[in-house]
Amino acid sequence: MSDRYCVFGHPIGHSKSPAIHAAFAAQTGEALEYVAIEAPLDDFAGAWRAFTVDGGRGANVTVPFKEEAHRLCDTLSHRARRAGAVNTLVLDADGQTRGDTTDGLGLVGDLRRQDVVLAGARILVLGAGGAVRGVLEPLLEAAPASLLIANRTAAKAEALAADFADLGEVAGGGFDVVRGPFDLVINGTSASLAGDLPPLPDDLFAEGGVAYDMMYGSEPTVFLRWAGQRGARGIDGLGMLVGQAAESFLLWRGKRPDVAPVLDRLRRSL
Ligand code: ATR
Repeated sequence: MSDRYCVFGHPIGHSKSPAIHAAFAAQTGEALEYVAIEAPLDDFAGAWRAFTVDGGRGANVTVPFKEEAHRLCDTLSHRARRAGAVNTLVLDADGQTRGDTTDGLGLVGDLRRQDVVLAGARILVLGAGGAVRGVLEPLLEAAPASLLIANRTAAKAEALAADFADLGEVAGGGFDVVRGPFDLVINGTSASLAGDLPPLPDDLFAEGGVAYDMMYGSEPTVFLRWAGQRGARGIDGLGMLVGQAAESFLLWRGKRPDVAPVLDRLRRSL
């Protein structure tokens, strides 16, 4: 029987992860099976245990289980510890569960693929929830000139900035403290799900500035449309999705898949 992997979520019906990992397996010649499992809301740990008994070697974890996955791990990477969340579970040879988070690597990898220079950049991050916490360490490690976290609830952005202050020039506040120009603005709020936009000044972007939305869809998001009208180049989060999957695959199989062809195919299927 080939090694088994899965993605846990609730709901999980529309997950693209099985198709992405099937493509990675074909590309790298790895024999593995990858399925989507809807874990019960009240027993995520039980679902993971049952999967390992059934031959499961690792899993991706998505909404709403990332924090619970973090709690059940025997060991955590420094990234996962800092993120307070786990999107990748690995069953080690000794039966211990190791947790990591690859979302931030997926984001930074996608930005690099798109030739966005992070070193020395003035970065604005919108939102201060789990999605943002999960990407701050790799972003700050890329040595931006400054990183401002702006959030509807200012206190959450301030607290998040304080948590990561040892890694670089990072500040937090409400949307009212936002003053451009920024080289890169990353939307990590769930506002665009509701078709909402945070209140932002029109002169947000520097010349050649980039807008990145962690969300994606078949059409540009509200945030990317708004940014495009203000001269920014827009990138959606599909590359981050495929990128985080590639980093998880590397943790499990020791091989780094090529993101580009899988991303191209996924884009055409949206
Ligand atoms: P996730 O795991 O997706 O980050 P979360 O932890 O609930 O989810 O965080 C959601 C983020 O989107 C928060 O930063 C939230 O702002 P608050 O901290 O003020 O709640 C932000 N958000 C959600 N809806 C929003 C809206 N309509 N306008 C602006 N920000 C919004």
